[in-house]
Amino acid sequence: MPVLDKINTENAIALEDKYGAHNYHPLPVVLSRGDGAYVWDAEGKRYYDFLSAYSAVNQGHCHPKIVNALVNQAQTLTLTSRAFYNDQLGRYEEYVTKFFGFDKVLPMNTGAEAVETAIKLCRKWAYEKKGIAEHEAKIIVCDGNFHGRTTTIISFSNDENARKNFGPYTAGFISIPYDDIAALNHVLKTETNIAGLLIEPIQGEAGVYVPADGYLAQAKTLCEQNNVLFIADEVQTGIARTGKLLAVHHENVQPDILILGKALSGGAYPVSAVLANDDIMNVIKPGQHGSTFGGNPIAAAVAVAALEVVKEEKLAENAEHLGNVFRKKMNAYIAGSNIVSLVRGKGLLNAIVINDTEDSSTAWDICVAMMHNGLLAKPTHGNIIRFAPPLVMTEEQLEECVTIITNTLQEFEK
Ligand SMILES: Cc1ncc(COP(=O)(O)O)c(C=O)c1O
Repeated sequence: MPVLDKINTENAIALEDKYGAHNYHPLPVVLSRGDGAYVWDAEGKRYYDFLSAYSAVNQGHCHPKIVNALVNQAQTLTLTSRAFYNDQLGRYEEYVTKFFGFDKVLPMNTGAEAVETAIKLCRKWAYEKKGIAEHEAKIIVCDGNFHGRTTTIISFSNDENARKNFGPYTAGFISIPYDDIAALNHVLKTETNIAGLLIEPIQGEAGVYVPADGYLAQAKTLCEQNNVLFIADEVQTGIARTGKLLAVHHENVQPDILILGKALSGGAYPVSAVLANDDIMNVIKPGQHGSTFGGNPIAAAVAVAALEVVKEEKLAENAEHLGNVFRKKMNAYIAGSNIVSLVRGKGLLNAIVINDTEDSSTAWDICVAMMHNGLLAKPTHGNIIRFAPPLVMTEEQLEECVTIITNTLQEFEK
């Protein structure tokens, strides 16, 4: 990099502060390089990344195979729009549908766009296949959900900060308690015109809430019995993060509609996807949905490489194993801790709950201290800290990370 392009931490933060909208509250660290499980700041200090760009870099930073696919395709053909065919998309579509076991895929770019796509698909199916009267379809969602930031999606959020003063909201959603099969059964029995259930198999943003064993399988069965589509938002939990290719695989559930994003590209490019079988996907006809960038050749080439890495490097198996090691070690620490009350999660999607009030700054202060000690993580909600390192991490690296985390927590013990 030319010397003139170098910028220090203080200046980089000042620029973002002055010229960027204040829609995020980052930790005060400026990253300028990444490799595998590591990132480096502007001054060259190395950190373990324990967020993985909200689970987008499951394959590790700058994975050579994914970067090669990106660079090769960027030098060949970047964008055609879907006005024409391109020679990468069909190959990707075949690969991704076989990978996840669906007839068809609808390619988009970001997670929120894919969720919007799934909502539109579900509604159209409801009107054209299930026979619900137009404008009457309802989709069940869960309290505490996080599916993105568009106007429709925040319409069914119950996070006031995400919603307030962004109305009027989109109608047609019913929110029920998460991980409550009786609540789902009740709403399916008492409400009419239900088209789908949109659900995160683990609620990531809310604080890594893992539902009880059997909940997802029972929810799927109830959906089947009521001719309601089970729509799994695996934007955060998918692509090996929880120790299986998909989090729903822990309960042998195959969703009717699957939503993927983030690690579908290994974090190298915005790639998202909605997968479904023909009886559902074929309700979408030309002109009814799309995106200029959705299904572009770079996205297609990168996504194939990203999925190949997941398989070749057995990332699901690694996540499963390291997740068990992590929770075991954290539980051993927690047994003698006042500052942490619990650890929960699946695979390498975990969180610890800090023993303080929800509005306290303790979780934030711990993350700042971990940053100083060489590990980057971020509070999700209030006093919960999410731990989601790249899945290419080795056991030795993980052990070093646990030492950094527990040594830092020790500084906060009363
Ligand atoms: C479960 C889930 N769905 C959707 C999204 C939205 O994805 P994006 O930020 O790419 O729009 C996220 C992002 O964190 C997510 O965790």
